[in-house]
Amino acid sequence: MLDKITAQEFSQRRDTLMQQLDDNSAVVIQSATMQKRNSDVDYLFRQDSTFFYFTGFNEPDALLVLKKIAGKVEYHLFCQPRNKEMEIWFGYRSGEQGVLDNYQADFAYSSEIIDEQMPQLLNGTAKLYYSFARERLTQQVQLWLGSMRKRSRQGVIAPVQLQQLDELSNEMRLIKSAAEQQMMRRASSISAQAQVKAMQETKVGVMEYQLDAHIQHHFAINACPQAAYPSIVGGGKNACILHYIDNSQALQDEQLVLIDSGAEYQYYAGDITRTFPVNGKYSPEQRALYEVVLKANTQCIEMIAPGTGWNEIHDRAVLVITSGLVELGLLQGDVDELIGAEAYREFFMHKLGHWLGMDVHDVGNYKVDGQWRELVPGMAMTVEPGIYVSPDNTQVEERWRGIGIRIEDDVLVTATGCEVMTWEVPKEIAQIEALMAG
Ligand code: GLY
Ligand code: MN
Ligand code: MN
Repeated sequence: MLDKITAQEFSQRRDTLMQQLDDNSAVVIQSATMQKRNSDVDYLFRQDSTFFYFTGFNEPDALLVLKKIAGKVEYHLFCQPRNKEMEIWFGYRSGEQGVLDNYQADFAYSSEIIDEQMPQLLNGTAKLYYSFARERLTQQVQLWLGSMRKRSRQGVIAPVQLQQLDELSNEMRLIKSAAEQQMMRRASSISAQAQVKAMQETKVGVMEYQLDAHIQHHFAINACPQAAYPSIVGGGKNACILHYIDNSQALQDEQLVLIDSGAEYQYYAGDITRTFPVNGKYSPEQRALYEVVLKANTQCIEMIAPGTGWNEIHDRAVLVITSGLVELGLLQGDVDELIGAEAYREFFMHKLGHWLGMDVHDVGNYKVDGQWRELVPGMAMTVEPGIYVSPDNTQVEERWRGIGIRIEDDVLVTATGCEVMTWEVPKEIAQIEALMAG
């Protein structure tokens, strides 16, 4: 089984991108750079997803330049130069020869000469594509163009059209290749097994961060040394904080705990949420709300197939959740009117899901030409309905307050329907209670 993206696929991606461009165009993509945490300590390095997508190169302060001249594509890569002193302190570098030998670059340069070299590389290209969203790169591009314009009397011609690269690169990243699908199945599988482990380790008195420790351990021993994002481990009312990452409290009897965690495998994210009882048994109120969220989760997943509109799935979740809240007495009134008034937003305030890939909230537009996008094979997304009853919601009976539930799966759109990549972690109440009973 493929355990990482091959050099051939990275090369195909560059070709696919460049085939879409006119002659005399250039593309520039910047790598990530180290970020300071405190004093002289840096955060762990994580490469920029788009840079990695087109290079497979995992070092900071690099720059990819692709040029299309007379129908031919040139691949230029700037990288940190070899440096004995720096490598002793901070780690080995590929250097220029390394990127020629191992990353298929046609031309390699030291990143120390980017600002001298780029005006020469861009001379004569008519269109320049880069991500307008990158501030650091945007400033550098202006610097290069300014220096080129100053030399116009010497025959230097600066690009006349600046184009947003993201539209092209994001669309490519949105549709996952067969190899990417394999990476995502692996990320989902490891993430699912970690959730099972957390369920088995849960008992009254355990700290939220201790459950996260079991999850991180499972990720790391399964070839995922970094998570895709900081875990959310929320006991009781902490589950109602959508981005709760404090994870600092002890789990108490009769609470639910919500865990939202995902491994990153070879740059692809898993993203799973399960919500289960600390003492192993759902209370009647927890069970009632859980069944509504589960119904929304399973009905939405059943809808996922080529041709389904992105909004249709969210709308189904809204319908199931609003109907369920009315049946249980947390909302009063006519379901259609309540939906029209968005009354459900008090309890379900986020979208049903998002694209999933190299970034947990992956790239790709949700609307095209003003219309919600239809699903096509190769898209990957999460399905994550939730109900969160604020502890301060005095409009509902006290017994419901402080219950937060989300059930999140990772789903791949296939030719005929969909594949739930996170199937290994149970979500039915009976299955979870049986698992926790050991
Ligand atoms: N873990 C972030 C999310 O579910 O969107
Ligand atoms: Mn999540
Ligand atoms: Mn998610």
